Amino acid sequence: MKQISDFEEYKTVYAHAIANPEVFWEDKAAEFHWFKKWDKTLKWNFTEPSIKWFDGGYTNLCYNCIDRHLEIRGNQTAIIWEPNDPKTPSRLITYNELHKEVCCFANVLKDVGVKKGDRVCIYMPMVPEGAIAMLACARIGAIHNVVFGGFSAKSLADRINDCGCTLLITADAVFRGDKKIELKQIADEAMADLTVISSPQQNGAIKAIVFNNRNEPVTMQAGRDFWWHELLETASSDCLAEPMEAEDPLFILYTSGSTGKPKGVLHTTGGYMVYAGYTFNEVFRPQSGHEIFWCTADIGWITGHSYLVYGPLLNGVTTVLFEGIPNWPDPGRFWEVVDKHQVNIFYTAPTAIRALEAQGTKWFEGKKLDSLRVLGSVGEPINEEAWEWYHKNVGKGNCPIVDTWWQTETGGILISPLAGITPLKPAYATLPIPGVQAVLLNERGEEISGNNVEGNLCMKFPWPGMARTVYGDHERFKNIYYSTYPGYYFTGDGCKRDADGYYRITGRVDDVINVSGHRIGTGEIEDALNEHPAIVESAVVGFPHDIKGQGIFAFVICNAKIDNASILTTEAQKLVFEKIGAFARPDRIVVVPGLPKTRSGKIMRRILRKIAEGDTSNLGDTTTLLDPSIVDIIKHKAAELSETL
Ligand code: PRX
Repeated sequence: MKQISDFEEYKTVYAHAIANPEVFWEDKAAEFHWFKKWDKTLKWNFTEPSIKWFDGGYTNLCYNCIDRHLEIRGNQTAIIWEPNDPKTPSRLITYNELHKEVCCFANVLKDVGVKKGDRVCIYMPMVPEGAIAMLACARIGAIHNVVFGGFSAKSLADRINDCGCTLLITADAVFRGDKKIELKQIADEAMADLTVISSPQQNGAIKAIVFNNRNEPVTMQAGRDFWWHELLETASSDCLAEPMEAEDPLFILYTSGSTGKPKGVLHTTGGYMVYAGYTFNEVFRPQSGHEIFWCTADIGWITGHSYLVYGPLLNGVTTVLFEGIPNWPDPGRFWEVVDKHQVNIFYTAPTAIRALEAQGTKWFEGKKLDSLRVLGSVGEPINEEAWEWYHKNVGKGNCPIVDTWWQTETGGILISPLAGITPLKPAYATLPIPGVQAVLLNERGEEISGNNVEGNLCMKFPWPGMARTVYGDHERFKNIYYSTYPGYYFTGDGCKRDADGYYRITGRVDDVINVSGHRIGTGEIEDALNEHPAIVESAVVGFPHDIKGQGIFAFVICNAKIDNASILTTEAQKLVFEKIGAFARPDRIVVVPGLPKTRSGKIMRRILRKIAEGDTSNLGDTTTLLDPSIVDIIKHKAAELSETL
C-alpha cells in the first residue's frame, strides 16, 4: 500500500482529503479486494444518524486478510504466538496454515448451525484460536462479539443476552502469569444465567465450542458443549469466503458509557476493513518485506480487533499474539519477547509503560531491542515522563512514538503522528490523520477556531471505520454521540490544541473512568456496589493513579454503623469483581454519612473528584448543595482513609 513520504506531503494529502473526501477514500478502498465494486462511496447524515460507506459493494474481510496474500506470502508467518510461560515453545503460523485453520473452523461454525448474520460470542484467552474464531466468523458473515477474558460471568451473560448470541466459543482455562483463570467455569455460570435471548428462532438455547488450551478438567454438557478439536476432525478445509455487502454488520463490541449498561457498538464490513487497513499502514508504516508487529492489547478490546488481528493481516505483516503479562516471570518479559521475535513495531498502553518504569531500568540489561523501529501508545493519555522513559529506554532514542488517539466507536486511529513523518511532541497525539476532520467545540456548540484553545473533541465529517449504531438501540446511539452537538460526532473527550495546532487529549468529560486503558462507567460500578446489603447508595469517581492512569474511588453510604470498614471494603471489592471483573474493583472505599447533593438530588461529582484527588483547597461553590456541611465530613473521612493507606 502507498505511504505518505514526508511531512509536506502529509499536509497536501490532508488538504486533498478534506477537499475531495470521496476521491480520497475510493483510492484507499481500491487497495483491497472487492467481489463487486460499490455504487456509492458515501451517504451520510449526522442527524438521523445514518452512515453508509461503499454502499452496494461486496467484499470479505477474512479474504482480504488471508486469501489475498497467499500467492506471494503463503509461506510467510502470519501469527507468532508467544505463550504465557517462556519455557513453552512459541507457535508460528504461516498465511497458508492460517488459511487452512480458518477455513476448517468456518466449516465447524456452519456445522453447528451458525449462519450469516448470527451473533457469536468469543470468550477466549490470547491464543491463535481466538483470532481464528474471529476470522472464521468474518469469513461466513457471522457477527462476532468478543468479550475480554477478564470479564465476570455476569458481564459475559449480559453481553450474550443483549445481542442474542447463538454460540459461545471459549476455552477450558488460561494462565496469566501464575494465575489460573477457569474460563469454561465462568462460561458455564454465564450460560446458566441466559434469561433474555433476543433471537426468536433461538428459543433460549446456546451452544458452546470449547478449545482445550490447558488440559484442565471441565464439565461438558451433552448436546450443548463441544470440543473444538473433536469438531475439527470432520471439518473440510474448503470454505469460500462469503461475499458480504459493505454495510453488513461485522462485529459488535461492548463498551461502557456514562449512563446505563454497556452498549454494543456495531461496526460494518467494508468501511471498517478499509479504515483498519489504511490506518495501520499509514500510522505504523510497515516497510516492504517482512515486518514483525506486536500489539500487546487483548483481542477482547477494540485495539486487539483493529491492530492485533485485522490491521496487520490486511497489510500482510506478521503479528505477535502474546498470552502473558508484562511483569511475569519478571518485568523484563516484554523486552525478552521483542528480542526473541525481532519485533520491529511495538504498540502498548501507557499503563504498562508506567508499571515497567516503576521497576527500574535493570530489566533492560542484556536486552538489545535493536530490531525496534517504531513504538506506539494507546488507550489513555501518556504523561510526558512515561513518554520520555519509553523513548529513551525502549526506543534507545531512535524510534518515533505514535501516540494514537481513538475509541471503540471510531474503529481505528483518528489522531496520531505518522511514524517518522510527523514531528513529535511528548504527550501529544499530534494531528488528525488524512481523512479525519477533528474540531473543538465550546459549551454552546460552536467550533473554536485558531490555536492555543481547549474544548470538546468532535468530528465534523464521517470516516469509513466509524460505528454505525448501538446494537438494538439506534436511539441510544443518536443520543450519546449525535445529540450533544447536533451535526457532529461527539467523542466524550476534552482536548487542547496548542500554538502549533497539535492536539493533546485531556481525558473524558463525562462520567467514564479510564482504568489502565479500560473504560468503565461510574454508574456500572455504583450499581454493583449498591447490591451489597450494607450499602444504601454510592458515588464513584476517578482519581489520578501513578500506574493505572486513573484509580477508582467509591464513596458509600451504609444502612448501619460499620464496625469494620476493611471487611466492608473487601466484600464490596469482591462484589464488583463478580459483577463486572477484576479491573473495575475500587481502589478506595470510604464510608460517608451522606453525599453532596443539589436540591434536585443530583450528586455533585465535581466535589467528590476534588476530594478523591486530595485537592480540597478550592472546592468551588457549594452553596447550591442541600446540605453544604456534608462536604467537610466527607473531606475528613477521605483524609482518615488516606492516612490508613
Ligand atoms: O478517553 C480516550 C482514551 O480512551 C477512550 C476510548 O476508550 P476505548 O473505547 O476503550 O478505546 C481504547 C483504545 C482505542 C477515549 O475516549 N484514549 C484512547 N487513546 C488515547 C486516549 N486518551 C489519550 N490519548 C490516547 N492516545
